[in-house]
Amino acid sequence: MRLPSVAIAPIGESSARRLMVHWRGAGVWLAFWNARGRLVWHDRQGPRVWTRLLVHSGLVRSEIRRAVRGALAREASPAPPTWGSFLGLAALPILQRKRIVGVVTAAWRQGEPDEDFQRFCDRARLDAQAIVQAAAVLPSYGADWATQWGAMLQFMVQQARESEENARQIESFTRNLGDTYEELNLVYSVGGMLSLDDAPHDMLQRLGREMLTVCKAAGIVFVQHVEPASGGFAAPAREVRAPRCVCVGQAPEDPATLRRLAETMGVGVGSLPLEGAAPSYVLRNNADELPEFSWAADWLDHIVALPLDRDGRRLGAMIALNRTDGGDYSSIEVKFLRALADRVTSFLESQHLYDELADLLMGLLHALISSIDAKDPYTCGHSQRVAAMSRRLAQAAGFEPAECHRVYLAGLLHDVGKIGIPDAILCKPGKLTEEEFRILRKHPEIGARILSQIRQVQDLLPGVLYHHERMDGRGYPHRLAGKDIPLLGRIICLADCFDAMTTNRTYRSALPIDLALAEVRRCAGTQFDPELAEKFLEMDPKTLLAELNGAPGSEAGGGARADAVRELGGHESVGSVSPQSLGAVVKGWQRLQRRQLH
Ligand SMILES: [Fe+2]
Ligand SMILES: [Fe+2]
Repeated sequence: MRLPSVAIAPIGESSARRLMVHWRGAGVWLAFWNARGRLVWHDRQGPRVWTRLLVHSGLVRSEIRRAVRGALAREASPAPPTWGSFLGLAALPILQRKRIVGVVTAAWRQGEPDEDFQRFCDRARLDAQAIVQAAAVLPSYGADWATQWGAMLQFMVQQARESEENARQIESFTRNLGDTYEELNLVYSVGGMLSLDDAPHDMLQRLGREMLTVCKAAGIVFVQHVEPASGGFAAPAREVRAPRCVCVGQAPEDPATLRRLAETMGVGVGSLPLEGAAPSYVLRNNADELPEFSWAADWLDHIVALPLDRDGRRLGAMIALNRTDGGDYSSIEVKFLRALADRVTSFLESQHLYDELADLLMGLLHALISSIDAKDPYTCGHSQRVAAMSRRLAQAAGFEPAECHRVYLAGLLHDVGKIGIPDAILCKPGKLTEEEFRILRKHPEIGARILSQIRQVQDLLPGVLYHHERMDGRGYPHRLAGKDIPLLGRIICLADCFDAMTTNRTYRSALPIDLALAEVRRCAGTQFDPELAEKFLEMDPKTLLAELNGAPGSEAGGGARADAVRELGGHESVGSVSPQSLGAVVKGWQRLQRRQLH
């Protein structure tokens, strides 16, 4: 029933088929024509007289087309067919909101053959007798009857079309409702999704992926303005968590390209207008035709850019690129993107405040630790170096960035218990007595007790409490052995001892680094976790130490471990260790290790 080269049908195939079958039963042949006068559907199984006429006579077909053109031209009384009154023909317009969208033609038997019919058959070279015989089986409708059921037919076609239109609208409405629900759901769930607990990069990636499934963008880009860390205390883990660009879907990943996109759209970080409010979005549905996008015309055709501004500051921009459906961005879709952009702005603002607070807390923490280390001038910078070294060791062991940051914090705090050790012991210039060592060995427990009051650092306690335990169970305070010692304690133990071994001071020489590394190797399995010791030796400790000693301030700096200093004795200058004194240095270090066991 479907014909080739069908243009827009005035009525759907299933409705047309239903009507044609229905009217076929009454001996009426139906055909449907579109608004351009082209045949769309016709009853191929209708009364044989009509199908034969259509197949065999171009004159019949042209008569019907003439009637269709008349209906489309809204002719009030179209010219009757030239074949006379034997066969009736009606062309009825199909309307949609008073606009003609097609025509339905009906043909039937009407009365007896007359002279006009005979003349027409002669002209068309048709067998009039055969046609009359074929039509004899059909019911006959007079012109009055035809007028009445013609109106009924037109009404039925209109009803069928309207019910199709309603079904289409309901389907479209349902689809839009579903889309809107998904959009609203995403807008409301973004608040929960954008948690400060996880890295912003991961958050924006997750949001971008959700957006791609809901809106029809081919790619989503977040260009983030990262302000320089204040005070120099920003933890490296936070720096990792603050990327400048996050790309999802089909989007260029080159930061320079993305920044150029943002600048071209007027939403770059430096393009906040000096006066007046910035536009809430910039939409270009024909970017490939615009000269300012000639550099991107081969991959960019649609772009929506939404600035992320707060209190006169530009935090970044959110950009939707191209389409997956070949359409344009509508104002409704842009409003949806704006609602999401507002959520992202709030998130970035909160993240900014969080970073500032984290900077402040880290600054206070460093100040506190430095003040403890400074009680003994020879331990200055020790905690920062242990923290930095522990973090490197955690990185080498494959820890996640957030875990590495926790290891760093535990390293910073590992000797915080020394705040409870009398200055007379901490700062004693000579050797400590056994009783003084017994008191000094309390610092891990004092530190753990202090920190146990702070809910946020509970996971750091193992690093503080167990950093003097040994793998062979001869450490303190609990003489734990092997894997019973929490991993955090084993990491800090190694970093702590290595720093104590390798720190130089003017009044004595530290262990040269090769000997310190040999000590790490020798003590792997007895004092140190052998797997960690192996990782440590693999991660180029010489370079690490050079970095730490060359970076004064928060993470490193000169200093020495007072206990080691006292045990090692000697007052040689840095770098002037004689072969004779080397042996004394090593023996002094090993003597200290033995003594600390008791
Ligand atoms: Fe310690
Ligand atoms: Fe320490």
